Amino acid sequence: MTPDPFHSLDGTLDQVWQRLARGVADRRAAARHPTLATVGPDGPDLRTVVLRAARRSDAQLEVHTDLRSAKVLHIGREPRIAMHVWDAKADCQIRINALASCLSGEDGRGRFAQVPEPARRVYAGFPPPGKVLAVPEEHGETEDPADHFCVLVLDVVRIETLHLGPDRHRRAVFTAAGGWSGSWIAP
Ligand SMILES: Cc1cc2nc3c(=O)[nH]c(=O)nc-3n(C[C@H](O)[C@H](O)[C@H](O)COP(=O)(O)O)c2cc1C
Repeated sequence: MTPDPFHSLDGTLDQVWQRLARGVADRRAAARHPTLATVGPDGPDLRTVVLRAARRSDAQLEVHTDLRSAKVLHIGREPRIAMHVWDAKADCQIRINALASCLSGEDGRGRFAQVPEPARRVYAGFPPPGKVLAVPEEHGETEDPADHFCVLVLDVVRIETLHLGPDRHRRAVFTAAGGWSGSWIAP
């Protein structure tokens, strides 16, 4: 019988990055749609996003967004963000802390060129995200999407997992500062 990867720290961290990578590649994977938390002027704010890249080698994640959105404003003031995934198939909760930065304009152009046409339209909206509309139909796609496209680059500094095993719950924490070696903590 193959050992359960969640019974070791290395195996747990491998699972995290495998499941994040699966989220990028597979629309049906749990990590496709993480919840991204920022700190705004009125306190914490949460929203669903699509995970666009997960690179274990440099501990980076990527999300695409509109430069005019509230989350970008929040990150400009407080770059510390949190991300959450509940992977029901793995019985594992993944909590991530990262430092966010925004690639836009010339820096983001290369990435924008890789965004397929239907997805580009999301960034062409006017009035900008969050503005009051008299009716939803007032919103059109009249802007140049390249002007508003932004890649949020998330430099991961901490990963915490909670695995709900049949025998016991296992909770682990991994930090960049600790060389990603990780430790068990009480669930
Ligand atoms: C399934 C789903 C996927 C989404 N993906 C994204 C995304 O990748 N990027 C994004 O900016 N907003 C995405 N949204 C919309 C956000 O949840 C949010 O409504 C929007 O970005 C405005 O958030 P803000 O005002 O907090 O910046 C998605 C929403 C849903 C329901």
